[in-house]
Amino acid sequence: ALPTTFSEPVHIAVIGGTGIESLVHDGFVPAAVLTPTTPWGAPSSPINILRTATGVPIAFLSRHGVHHELTPSEVPNLANISALRAIGVRTVLAFSAVGSLQEDIRPRDFVIPDQIIDRTKGIRPHTFFEKGIVGHVGFADPFDAGLTAIVAKTAEKLEGGAKLHVGGTVICMEGPAFSTRAESKMYRSWGGSVINMSALPESKLAREAEMAYVMVCMSTDYDCWKTDEPPVDVAVVMGNMKQNGENAKRVMVAVLEELALEQHEDLVKGRHLEGASKWANCTK
Ligand code: ADE
Repeated sequence: ALPTTFSEPVHIAVIGGTGIESLVHDGFVPAAVLTPTTPWGAPSSPINILRTATGVPIAFLSRHGVHHELTPSEVPNLANISALRAIGVRTVLAFSAVGSLQEDIRPRDFVIPDQIIDRTKGIRPHTFFEKGIVGHVGFADPFDAGLTAIVAKTAEKLEGGAKLHVGGTVICMEGPAFSTRAESKMYRSWGGSVINMSALPESKLAREAEMAYVMVCMSTDYDCWKTDEPPVDVAVVMGNMKQNGENAKRVMVAVLEELALEQHEDLVKGRHLEGASKWANCTK
């Protein structure tokens, strides 16, 4: 059995979405399995600590639970971000299955968005700043630019004709039911590139916690705006995620190996974000 404690700080975390429930890779050595609790309860899954080939520790958390038992509305985002932050995480590489709202973003393509539109319903706990701590973080650019540049450069090489799209807007809806055709068309008119149920509040909480965050979106379907295709269903999402597993793994491993390099130390340790939330806090 693996140790249940880990004494070194872990700066980099992967949050796996649908279809990415573990981080098994030949080159990575399992080092510990943590089951922390936080003031906001337990995270979605145990946190697996693995070492890259060069010995850099990486944390892995499965957003929907080990057996995909949590709906997007039920994911304990505050506990997840708090638990990761508590072990030292300052850089988050998040993965998510998404529907495509654009013809040229084909199923199995990857998108690294730079914007979000919030279509959650206000039922998800979404801030650490409440109950006497009043703070307002900036969120104009929800994803970290430096981290995005590294992921974009590293993830270029996808196989099987899949393309990488850098930039774009992810619509985050509440779910769990998919959108209506009228909604899907409205999101297209808003300039949406892709749609999921997980970008929020995860990315916002990461910002509040002074973590660099980027979301790698894997397109699985054309949602329901396209009239020459059947509307999205779970079988299509799962099927494409399975077929996409190899690309997802390749991107994940390549990005982690790149981030593990010494030249990125300041970025992964979140030096550029240190103290950022302090200036968001009104109750000093
Ligand atoms: N995740 C994968 N496909 C999706 C879609 N079409 N809408 C919302 N979330 C999704």
